[in-house]
Amino acid sequence: MNQSAPVQIVFKNIHKSDSHTLPVYLEGGGYKTLAKVLALTPEAVIEEVKKSGIRGRGGAGFPTGIKWSFIPRNSPKPKYLVCNADEGEPGTCKDRDILRYDPHLLIEGMIISAFAVGSERGYIYIRGEFNLESRRVEQAIEEAYAKGYLGDNILGKGVRFDLAVHLGAGAYVCGEETALLESLEGKKGQPRVKPPFPANVGLWGGPTVINNVETLASIPGIMEAGGAWYAGLGVEKSSGTKIFSVSGHVNRPGNHEVEMGISLRALLEEYAGGVRGGWDNLKGVIPGGSSSPILTREACETVKMDYDSIARAGSMLGSGAVIVLDKSVCVVRALARISRFYRHESCGQCTPCREGTGWMAQIVTRIEAGGGRAGDIELLEELCGNISGKTICALGDAAAMPVAGAIRAFREEFVYHVEHGRCMVE
Ligand SMILES: Cc1cc2nc3c(=O)[nH]c(=O)nc-3n(C[C@H](O)[C@H](O)[C@H](O)COP(=O)(O)O)c2cc1C
Repeated sequence: MNQSAPVQIVFKNIHKSDSHTLPVYLEGGGYKTLAKVLALTPEAVIEEVKKSGIRGRGGAGFPTGIKWSFIPRNSPKPKYLVCNADEGEPGTCKDRDILRYDPHLLIEGMIISAFAVGSERGYIYIRGEFNLESRRVEQAIEEAYAKGYLGDNILGKGVRFDLAVHLGAGAYVCGEETALLESLEGKKGQPRVKPPFPANVGLWGGPTVINNVETLASIPGIMEAGGAWYAGLGVEKSSGTKIFSVSGHVNRPGNHEVEMGISLRALLEEYAGGVRGGWDNLKGVIPGGSSSPILTREACETVKMDYDSIARAGSMLGSGAVIVLDKSVCVVRALARISRFYRHESCGQCTPCREGTGWMAQIVTRIEAGGGRAGDIELLEELCGNISGKTICALGDAAAMPVAGAIRAFREEFVYHVEHGRCMVE
């Protein structure tokens, strides 16, 4: 990993003025990779993406090339490519920057991906609150049609791909890929039972690839410089670059594209201006969005920002939303806020999630308010065990993990709250 020269793949254009417009995108070499790719076979594109080792940037980290290879080539049904631009995980704000500052990069990535999996129809499912973003993407789609990058005969090569935007209505669960498909079909956004997986039975029953915005926006860079080049960035099993959305108690919050495997400390100090009040003022970090278990300062000293290192430290890379908490933070209070979010966003389909998120929010809130009872902490732990892995989608796990993680890492704060009816943080 080379920390001295940050490679920019997804964010390479976003600092240019009018980076969202087609002329600026073309000036930077835009759509040249598409022309190169259309001379290859779809199988060769999938091989290159497999070689890159890129893993999905939406949270689950599934290898993208392998996901694409699950799409049956000779299905009689239409195949679909869906971009997940719902970006609902608290702390995450990276896809938004791609949508509003470089929509053509995403579109080029989608055309290449569609060619690889044999899809002629794609959708970008954008969260409803993203007004500017959806307008810019729609404008970019219009520009791409006008120039022949989209439509019946892309660049005169006889390849077809139509692309449309669909706006969500602000439900976190609609970021879960099968709830997203339900919503796209015009139904209530509730996750489907799997299997069958979308690769076989997806949108309107057709084979469907669903990828995150950042994943798809990485594809032109991979196909331009080659899978082997991309695999050489980052670290083993976590290749390439990743955008980390750093928020909370740092001096310069924001999105930073860095190579995977950078140390958390370097990310915070070299890119995010350091922890407010200095490193010693750090209490903990939620490293991968609000559903990922909090890391103590001790763990933050050594952890590296790649899938395996964060997993070894007891958390997950998730969507790459790094939420920094300094010593002024009451962990119980922070968790109460997070738990109320998951209670509100549970779709209600599965009993453990519908009931469990409510119970967790209620108990954490009462502990925080000074009304904690003996046995509450153990009750929370039992609830987490009754939710995790017992629901149709991972929202249940997403709600339970921060609770179990906060108790594991900061148990003494919970105990103090229950015993003294108040917070130990002044
Ligand atoms: C409750 C829930 C919410 C999710 N929200 C998002 C989201 O907003 N954006 C996203 O890309 N993936 C989200 N995911 C993950 C998707 O289900 C899916 O794994 C991802 O879109 C696949 O793309 P990738 O392989 O490129 O990461 C969510 C998952 C769950 C369980």
